[in-house]
Amino acid sequence: MTYKRPDKREYDEMRKIEAKVGIIKRADGSALFSFGNSKAIVAVYGPRKLYPQHLQNPQKCLLRCYYDLASFSVAERKRPGPSRRSTEISYVTANALKPVIDLEAFPGSVIDVYILIIQADASTRCAGINAASMALAHAGIPMKELVTSVSIGKIGDAIVADLAKEEEDYTIKKDGKEMKAATDIPFAFLSRSEKISLMQLDGKISYDDLKKAIKLARKTSKKIVEIQEQALKKVKEDKT
Ligand code: CDP
Repeated sequence: MTYKRPDKREYDEMRKIEAKVGIIKRADGSALFSFGNSKAIVAVYGPRKLYPQHLQNPQKCLLRCYYDLASFSVAERKRPGPSRRSTEISYVTANALKPVIDLEAFPGSVIDVYILIIQADASTRCAGINAASMALAHAGIPMKELVTSVSIGKIGDAIVADLAKEEEDYTIKKDGKEMKAATDIPFAFLSRSEKISLMQLDGKISYDDLKKAIKLARKTSKKIVEIQEQALKKVKEDKT
């Protein structure tokens, strides 16, 4: 059976993307990025001196990421405050962003990246990374390249780009039981070197299918980076 996407998208088609830079005036850098109904806003503060002093690294700057899903962002109210999930996503987000930032340029300092998901419909960590990368560039932080993130899914035999929640929850009936049948693989790529800075796997995938997923992720990321760059260019033009 050929898999049909619930919103009739092609397998390599992402949801509608919205990308905007400079949305929070008080922040040093800020951005919004959405994949369809998954919407992330990001505020960046820094580089600024890190206190308490014993946390300072005399060699380089500390990058701190805080991912949070707003209580009102999901169908069933999410309990406010950090969770194991948000701690994990904050950690992988920081690791996805670190390779592009010149952290040695700001010894003893900190850059704080606050990622808030105001509406969630899967792939929120990817939307958050895309917005964070734009917000860091907007803050004027020296970066070698941008970071671009997208989730690739395997549903039945289909390899698809940018999973929505309904697709993540896709099930099949096996031996009379409903079974989860979607695999979700969030990726992040560095925009120029095309190196992978995030790859996670929720589900199962064969080696050959993983290669197909990486290929689709690369192709899709190229489209995303163009959108990120356009948004950054627009804010630069508006300033002049
Ligand atoms: O959002 P992402 O795909 O990066 O992470 P996930 O942990 O795989 O979560 C998938 C989706 O589940 C989220 O985007 C939300 O739509 C939903 N979710 C939820 O409804 N309530 C939560 N407490 C956490 C996630």
